[in-house]
Amino acid sequence: MTRTFLARLGGILLLASAALLAQTATVGSALPAAKVSKTAKAPATKKAVVPAPTPAGGKNLQVFKGLDHEGVDEAMDFISSSLGVGCAQCHVKDEKAGWQFEKDDKADKKTARKMLLMSRAINKAHFKGETVVSCATCHNGHAEPSSLPPLAVLGAPRPGAPVPDKTKDLPSLETILDHYIAALGGKAAVDGVTTRTMKGSIDGGGGRTMALDIQQKAPHQFVQTLTTPRGALVQGFDGTAGWVSRAGKAAPMAPKQVADIRREADLAEPAHLQERYAKLTVLGRESVDGHEAFAVAGKRADGSRAILYFDATTGLLTRRLAFDITVLGRTSEETTYQDYRSVEGVMLPFKLITRTPHAAQVTTFSEIKQGVPVDDAVFKMPAAKP
Ligand code: HEC
Ligand code: HEC
Repeated sequence: MTRTFLARLGGILLLASAALLAQTATVGSALPAAKVSKTAKAPATKKAVVPAPTPAGGKNLQVFKGLDHEGVDEAMDFISSSLGVGCAQCHVKDEKAGWQFEKDDKADKKTARKMLLMSRAINKAHFKGETVVSCATCHNGHAEPSSLPPLAVLGAPRPGAPVPDKTKDLPSLETILDHYIAALGGKAAVDGVTTRTMKGSIDGGGGRTMALDIQQKAPHQFVQTLTTPRGALVQGFDGTAGWVSRAGKAAPMAPKQVADIRREADLAEPAHLQERYAKLTVLGRESVDGHEAFAVAGKRADGSRAILYFDATTGLLTRRLAFDITVLGRTSEETTYQDYRSVEGVMLPFKLITRTPHAAQVTTFSEIKQGVPVDDAVFKMPAAKP
């Protein structure tokens, strides 16, 4: 939850991160400024636990020795969501000095440290040192894991009863992708979009709604303004350089984020799925909100993965699951795409529901336009004010 201030990237728009929404929550707002990290997503490739070219992310790190701030943030988010608890479960907060994360006053912090070593030992002894077993494996959202097998559910199929084969008679990848493009309005329409402007809002639950404004220009110029309680958060990409501006102060994005924003900002993304993922494989059938969908696994060259769900009837993309790798294990982000409407001949989702282990939010667009003039200047990083 203390993660990235800069939003993560998800779907056709940048997703406001949990951290951003946490800015208005009591816990998040009391966090030291140093904890607000500058980058978005975790690197998709496996992160070594002890890289220390950057200053270490803590004063009292005994397990995560040398891990940087972002890595510690990610690990803490992972631990909190795995146990379903807040930071105060393990950390002390002083009335005056605020959070004292380095202190070991709470028993749960000490237990957590032992558990970190235990998980590492299990992985080393039984899983070739890969992060397979994590806090989530046993805790699954509970502070104290249950050791009891779950009770039976009335009317549920008996264990061992035959299950329907989800991989029978599946369409080919080409059929699914062709159906998708046709459902959107055809390749010519998708490829032909020159500009797109979107106005809407993001609802993070608990009555926190923020205005969202996006402008895009082909092939991948992009600017998004989110009006937060602390001022405007703007993220832009002018085709070469990516930047982020918070409350009027602009700074360039790190190279990894530039690569992400370039990919996410592709106006004709649906037509480029084959290029976006190095490998796409049809997995099977699943139900998305009660509708049958074909699940397609995507693997990118950098090792990151996603599963895309295409509605079996309409052909449209209805859900996307993306996986991220942290020091402690894999974590996921889900987006469901709803309320598709035609805008200048291209079907676009007007409602997106995004969920991560730390936050859930609904993005609703009230207006989407295509082909309207957009000035190139809006995509450039604003110059520093003298
Ligand atoms: C279940 C217990 C637990 C929870 C919940 C937890 N932490 Fe931690 N935290 C730890 C442990 C254990 C360490 C020390 C890790 C080590 O020794 O390498 C730590 C270390 C840290 C540090 C580094 C402190 C230093 O200077 O050494 C920070 C910062 C931190 N946590 C922030 C957070 C935040 C923010 C949250 C809430 C999102 C959080 N933690 C939730 C157990 C927890
Ligand atoms: C192999 C299973 C397993 C894994 C993996 C695991 N735990 Fe636990 N954890 C347990 C069990 C079981 C208990 C309860 C022990 C008891 O009741 O005495 C527990 C207790 C705890 C407690 C004390 C909670 C309480 O209220 O008693 C904390 C804190 C905790 N675990 C943190 C973690 C963290 C952080 C991780 C990941 C680094 C983790 N655990 C990984 C099984 C696991």
